[in-house]
Amino acid sequence: MQVSKSEKLEKILETTKTCKACNLHKNRCKCVFSKGCENAKIMLIGEAPGKKENEEGKPFIGKSGQQLYDLLSKVGFNPEQDIYFCNVVKCRPVKNNKDRKPYKKEIETCAKFLNSQIEIVNPKIIILCGNTAKNIFKINEPMKTVHGKCFENNGLKLVPIYHPRASILDNVKLSDFKKVYKMYREF
Ligand code: URA
Repeated sequence: MQVSKSEKLEKILETTKTCKACNLHKNRCKCVFSKGCENAKIMLIGEAPGKKENEEGKPFIGKSGQQLYDLLSKVGFNPEQDIYFCNVVKCRPVKNNKDRKPYKKEIETCAKFLNSQIEIVNPKIIILCGNTAKNIFKINEPMKTVHGKCFENNGLKLVPIYHPRASILDNVKLSDFKKVYKMYREF
């Protein structure tokens, strides 16, 4: 019997919800697994859930998410329909009650979940949103030299972009998304 993408993802989600493999689970209200379309040709990988995401269990629903959606919509995407959204880690990293970047060990521990998501969704293009996502794909040059460029990896197109939080002009971010949209339309 053929197992559907949603059934496979649901199974991974169940394991993620109860994962205690690193300390991030201690602060977890809800694990933040994904949002959007599992049949999408594009996946967008962010860094980590923030406060609102932790409360509601969905990625990119806070201020950064709104900025991201605005940019995506401006270039022609219908975000929830065209894109599968997820993060490098599935639980919110905090220090003194504030968001922080996930530690290397946390990223490594959580990698199995992200790898399963990539394998099941099987996107053609992955947008690496911010340095944390860029770095896990071993793109080591700084964001200022690689943003908006396409890196081929076994037939998969990887495109690093600035995180919506980054203090960079919206025009720069917009022009990167225009490039991604063009790539997307070529499939
Ligand atoms: N919200 C997310 O889900 N991921 C980010 O990287 C930022 C905000």
